[in-house]
Amino acid sequence: MSKIIIEIRQARPEDSTALGRVHLVAFGGPVEAKLVQLISERKKALITLVAVSEGRVVGHILFSRVTIANSPDTFKAVGLAPVGILPEFQRKGIGSALIREGLERCKQAGYHAVVLIGDPAYYSRFGFVRAADFGLQNEYGIHDEFMVLPLHDGALEGVAGTVKYLPEFREAEC
Ligand SMILES: CC(C)(COP(=O)(O)OP(=O)(O)OC[C@H]1O[C@@H](n2cnc3c(N)ncnc32)[C@H](O)[C@@H]1OP(=O)(O)O)[C@@H](O)C(=O)NCCC(=O)NCCS
Repeated sequence: MSKIIIEIRQARPEDSTALGRVHLVAFGGPVEAKLVQLISERKKALITLVAVSEGRVVGHILFSRVTIANSPDTFKAVGLAPVGILPEFQRKGIGSALIREGLERCKQAGYHAVVLIGDPAYYSRFGFVRAADFGLQNEYGIHDEFMVLPLHDGALEGVAGTVKYLPEFREAEC
């Protein structure tokens, strides 16, 4: 079996149709595609990366700003959502590669923590742990699947409360 070669690069405006398709197919519905479109159009994507195979966009990941009720002014956190890979390209390590590259860029950009809502069995391999253990809640009442990754030691000291995503997350569900 030939090895798949993937390039990871920053998403560009001309990728927008391909991104929509990736998420529509990966998630089997329009919410994530709409979310990416809204956040991208409004230039609120902090980190937005695509995985490209033979010139075709096969995966995408996006990070956007989140706020936490009780946190110092200097504290900066981001939410990882969504990440999607075309079904025929899943389970080949592409999602992991996008997540690892995205987390590295978050660290380099000086963010203190990353939150997400996802399957603990998958995201624990990247170091994500239950956010509730750090006193963090979310607006959706999700418990075990709400996870956090502090990007350096002590990153979450003095930080607690409800994590708020961009309003586009609610808008995309309408
Ligand atoms: C979840 C997703 C991004 C993972 O990307 P991927 O490229 O398929 O994953 P990778 O190849 O990097 O990793 C594969 C490993 O993750 C595991 N895995 C994949 N999706 C998983 C999930 N939802 N829950 C638990 N484990 C999962 C596989 O079993 C595999 O494990 P192994 O390495 O022990 O065999 C991708 O499957 C996808 O787009 N799914 C549909 C959309 C979605 O659910 N996005 C995430 C929402 S939080």
